[in-house]
Amino acid sequence: MENPVLKLLHDRHSRRSIATDPLPEDIVAELMEAARLAPSCSNNQPWRYLFLLSAEAREKGRSALTASNALWASRAPLLIFGYTRRKDDCTNADGRAYHQFDLGLAAMNIMLAATHHNLVARPMAGFVAAKVKEIFSLDAEAEPLVAIAIGYPSDDVSHLPDYAKELHLRPRTRKDVSEIITRL
Ligand SMILES: Cc1cc2nc3c(=O)[nH]c(=O)nc-3n(C[C@H](O)[C@H](O)[C@H](O)COP(=O)(O)O)c2cc1C
Repeated sequence: MENPVLKLLHDRHSRRSIATDPLPEDIVAELMEAARLAPSCSNNQPWRYLFLLSAEAREKGRSALTASNALWASRAPLLIFGYTRRKDDCTNADGRAYHQFDLGLAAMNIMLAATHHNLVARPMAGFVAAKVKEIFSLDAEAEPLVAIAIGYPSDDVSHLPDYAKELHLRPRTRKDVSEIITRL
């Protein structure tokens, strides 16, 4: 594939089988830089990310995940929680909210930077936001929206529930371009 960005997009897969090996510090720094470089409405940069790298922080983060996500995501050497605050949103004519959109752009930056290093980066909505706020002493305005488990892929699927073992082998499914794009 000639376009390196498209290649990266094709290569990215949200696997659940993640090895416990730690990530080199320079790769962690690249993921942080990737988050920093995302575009945002009025360049407000409303995203905030907790990078849980220490065993202690990851253990805390794990307790906020749903049981089915904790099964596999707790093995990851890096667990991330992303949040925004509405007050950091940009203003626009009809009051549309963009803070979570911007958070998502930064999340994709992180995931693509991880993919470049052949890492797994699986986003998750399966966690309890109130628990994240409590555990990490976030203020009342913080709105956790996404978690991302990052690590090297593993062929060991023994810790996955049966449904996930099967999903692990399935090829990606996507709608056809004609269903999602209107060409005028
Ligand atoms: C906002 C969001 C929330 C998600 N939540 C979860 C989750 O809680 N647990 C999980 O295993 N996967 C979760 N996923 C991963 C999706 O299931 C996955 O991205 C989708 O099946 C497409 O697969 P792909 O990422 O490999 O292309 C989530 C993805 C997104 C974007």
